[in-house]
Amino acid sequence: MRILFRVTATMLALAGASAAWGYEPAVNYQIRCMGCHLADGSGTPGRIPSVRRSLVLFSAVPEGRDYVVRVPGVAQSPLSDADTAALLNWMARNLSDVKVPANYVDYSEAEVHGLRDRPLAQVKAIRARLWKSVGGAAPTP
Ligand code: HEC
Repeated sequence: MRILFRVTATMLALAGASAAWGYEPAVNYQIRCMGCHLADGSGTPGRIPSVRRSLVLFSAVPEGRDYVVRVPGVAQSPLSDADTAALLNWMARNLSDVKVPANYVDYSEAEVHGLRDRPLAQVKAIRARLWKSVGGAAPTP
Protein backbone atom coordinates (compact mmCIF):
# COMPACT_ATOMS: atom_id res chain seq x y z
CA MET A 1 0.00 0.00 0.00
CA ARG A 2 2.74 2.39 0.97
CA ILE A 3 4.66 1.48 -2.18
CA LEU A 4 1.57 2.03 -4.30
CA PHE A 5 1.12 5.43 -2.72
CA ARG A 6 4.74 6.31 -3.42
CA VAL A 7 4.47 5.21 -7.04
CA THR A 8 1.27 7.21 -7.52
CA ALA A 9 2.77 10.26 -5.85
CA THR A 10 5.86 10.02 -8.05
CA MET A 11 3.75 9.71 -11.17
CA LEU A 12 1.69 12.73 -10.20
CA ALA A 13 4.84 14.71 -9.47
CA LEU A 14 6.30 13.74 -12.86
CA ALA A 15 3.09 14.64 -14.68
CA GLY A 16 3.03 18.06 -13.01
CA ALA A 17 6.70 18.66 -13.66
CA SER A 18 6.48 17.64 -17.30
CA ALA A 19 3.61 20.06 -17.89
CA ALA A 20 5.66 22.84 -16.31
CA TRP A 21 8.67 21.97 -18.49
CA GLY A 22 6.58 22.07 -21.63
CA TYR A 23 6.76 18.34 -22.27
CA GLU A 24 3.83 18.32 -24.68
CA PRO A 25 4.92 21.24 -26.86
CA ALA A 26 8.39 19.72 -27.08
CA VAL A 27 6.99 16.40 -28.25
CA ASN A 28 4.59 18.10 -30.65
CA TYR A 29 7.52 19.99 -32.11
CA GLN A 30 9.47 16.78 -32.58
CA ILE A 31 6.60 15.02 -34.29
CA ARG A 32 5.12 17.84 -36.40
CA CYS A 33 7.81 20.40 -37.10
CA MET A 34 11.30 19.09 -36.49
CA GLY A 35 11.46 17.11 -39.75
CA CYS A 36 11.61 20.41 -41.62
CA HIS A 37 12.79 22.99 -39.07
CA LEU A 38 15.40 20.69 -37.41
CA ALA A 39 15.85 20.05 -33.69
CA ASP A 40 17.09 23.55 -32.90
CA GLY A 41 14.76 25.40 -35.29
CA SER A 42 17.60 26.48 -37.55
CA GLY A 43 16.08 25.01 -40.72
CA THR A 44 17.92 24.52 -43.98
CA PRO A 45 19.19 27.58 -45.87
CA GLY A 46 17.47 27.96 -49.21
CA ARG A 47 14.65 25.62 -48.25
CA ILE A 48 13.28 25.92 -44.71
CA PRO A 49 13.65 29.20 -42.79
CA SER A 50 15.21 29.32 -39.37
CA VAL A 51 12.71 30.33 -36.69
CA ARG A 52 15.55 31.26 -34.31
CA ARG A 53 15.26 34.99 -35.03
CA SER A 54 12.06 35.36 -36.96
CA LEU A 55 9.58 33.89 -34.49
CA VAL A 56 10.14 36.30 -31.62
CA LEU A 57 10.73 39.33 -33.87
CA PHE A 58 7.71 38.69 -36.08
CA SER A 59 5.53 38.01 -33.04
CA ALA A 60 6.12 41.57 -31.85
CA VAL A 61 4.11 43.09 -34.72
CA PRO A 62 0.48 42.37 -35.68
CA GLU A 63 1.27 41.46 -39.30
CA GLY A 64 3.97 39.11 -38.04
CA ARG A 65 1.60 37.32 -35.67
CA ASP A 66 -0.87 36.97 -38.52
CA TYR A 67 1.89 35.47 -40.72
CA VAL A 68 3.24 33.10 -38.04
CA VAL A 69 -0.15 31.53 -37.39
CA ARG A 70 -1.23 31.42 -41.04
CA VAL A 71 2.00 30.01 -42.49
CA PRO A 72 1.04 26.57 -43.93
CA GLY A 73 3.18 24.48 -41.54
CA VAL A 74 1.40 26.06 -38.56
CA ALA A 75 -2.12 26.68 -39.88
CA GLN A 76 -2.50 23.26 -41.45
CA SER A 77 -0.93 21.14 -38.73
CA PRO A 78 -3.37 18.69 -37.16
CA LEU A 79 -2.71 20.18 -33.71
CA SER A 80 -5.58 21.87 -31.89
CA ASP A 81 -5.66 25.65 -31.54
CA ALA A 82 -4.63 25.37 -27.86
CA ASP A 83 -1.75 22.97 -28.62
CA THR A 84 -0.59 25.18 -31.48
CA ALA A 85 -0.57 28.25 -29.22
CA ALA A 86 1.37 26.34 -26.54
CA LEU A 87 3.81 25.08 -29.19
CA LEU A 88 4.54 28.57 -30.55
CA ASN A 89 5.00 29.88 -26.99
CA TRP A 90 7.37 27.02 -26.20
CA MET A 91 9.34 27.62 -29.41
CA ALA A 92 9.77 31.31 -28.59
CA ARG A 93 11.42 30.34 -25.30
CA ASN A 94 13.36 27.28 -26.37
CA LEU A 95 14.33 27.68 -30.02
CA SER A 96 15.15 31.35 -30.24
CA ASP A 97 18.38 33.33 -30.29
CA VAL A 98 16.28 36.42 -29.57
CA LYS A 99 15.36 36.63 -25.91
CA VAL A 100 11.63 36.86 -25.29
CA PRO A 101 11.09 40.49 -24.17
CA ALA A 102 9.29 41.30 -20.92
CA ASN A 103 6.28 42.62 -22.84
CA TYR A 104 6.06 39.54 -25.06
CA VAL A 105 2.46 38.51 -25.71
CA ASP A 106 1.97 34.77 -25.76
CA TYR A 107 -0.26 33.26 -28.43
CA SER A 108 -3.64 32.21 -27.11
CA GLU A 109 -6.00 29.51 -28.28
CA ALA A 110 -8.44 32.24 -29.41
CA GLU A 111 -5.81 34.08 -31.43
CA VAL A 112 -4.76 30.91 -33.25
CA HIS A 113 -8.40 29.99 -33.83
CA GLY A 114 -9.18 33.38 -35.32
CA LEU A 115 -6.29 33.37 -37.79
CA ARG A 116 -5.44 29.88 -38.97
CA ASP A 117 -8.46 29.27 -41.19
CA ARG A 118 -7.64 32.01 -43.67
CA PRO A 119 -5.13 30.74 -46.22
CA LEU A 120 -1.95 32.78 -46.59
CA ALA A 121 -1.20 33.91 -50.13
CA GLN A 122 2.07 35.54 -51.17
CA VAL A 123 4.05 33.91 -48.35
CA LYS A 124 7.45 35.04 -49.65
CA ALA A 125 6.40 38.65 -50.25
CA ILE A 126 4.86 38.93 -46.78
CA ARG A 127 7.97 37.41 -45.19
CA ALA A 128 10.27 39.85 -47.01
CA ARG A 129 8.09 42.80 -45.97
CA LEU A 130 8.11 41.60 -42.37
CA TRP A 131 11.88 41.44 -42.24
CA LYS A 132 11.98 45.05 -43.39
CA SER A 133 9.44 46.13 -40.79
CA VAL A 134 11.28 44.49 -37.88
CA GLY A 135 14.49 46.11 -39.07
CA GLY A 136 16.49 43.09 -40.07
CA ALA A 137 17.96 41.73 -43.26
CA ALA A 138 16.12 38.61 -44.33
CA PRO A 139 18.29 35.55 -44.02
CA THR A 140 17.83 32.94 -46.74
CA PRO A 141 15.34 31.84 -47.85
C1 HEC B 1 7.08 20.33 -44.75
C2 HEC B 1 8.03 21.17 -44.04
C3 HEC B 1 7.54 22.00 -42.87
C4 HEC B 1 6.91 21.54 -41.74
C5 HEC B 1 6.54 20.11 -41.38
C6 HEC B 1 6.71 22.69 -40.90
N1 HEC B 1 7.17 23.81 -41.51
FE1 HEC B 1 7.21 25.67 -40.72
N2 HEC B 1 7.88 26.42 -42.47
C7 HEC B 1 8.22 25.67 -43.59
C8 HEC B 1 8.54 26.58 -44.69
C9 HEC B 1 8.97 26.18 -46.10
C10 HEC B 1 8.37 27.88 -44.20
C11 HEC B 1 8.54 29.20 -44.96
C12 HEC B 1 7.19 29.74 -45.36
C13 HEC B 1 6.57 28.93 -46.44
O1 HEC B 1 7.06 28.96 -47.58
O2 HEC B 1 5.59 28.21 -46.13
C14 HEC B 1 7.98 27.74 -42.80
C15 HEC B 1 7.76 28.81 -41.95
C16 HEC B 1 7.46 28.69 -40.62
C17 HEC B 1 7.37 29.79 -39.69
C18 HEC B 1 7.63 31.24 -40.01
C19 HEC B 1 9.12 31.48 -39.82
C20 HEC B 1 9.75 32.34 -40.88
O3 HEC B 1 10.88 32.80 -40.63
O4 HEC B 1 9.17 32.53 -41.95
C21 HEC B 1 7.03 29.29 -38.47
C22 HEC B 1 6.83 30.05 -37.17
C23 HEC B 1 6.89 27.87 -38.65
N3 HEC B 1 7.16 27.54 -39.96
C24 HEC B 1 6.51 27.02 -37.64
C25 HEC B 1 6.24 25.67 -37.86
C26 HEC B 1 5.65 24.82 -36.85
C27 HEC B 1 5.26 25.27 -35.45
C28 HEC B 1 5.53 23.59 -37.41
C29 HEC B 1 4.95 22.34 -36.79
C30 HEC B 1 3.60 22.44 -36.26
C31 HEC B 1 6.03 23.68 -38.77
N4 HEC B 1 6.44 24.96 -39.01
C32 HEC B 1 6.10 22.63 -39.66
C33 HEC B 1 8.25 24.29 -43.65
C34 HEC B 1 7.68 23.44 -42.72
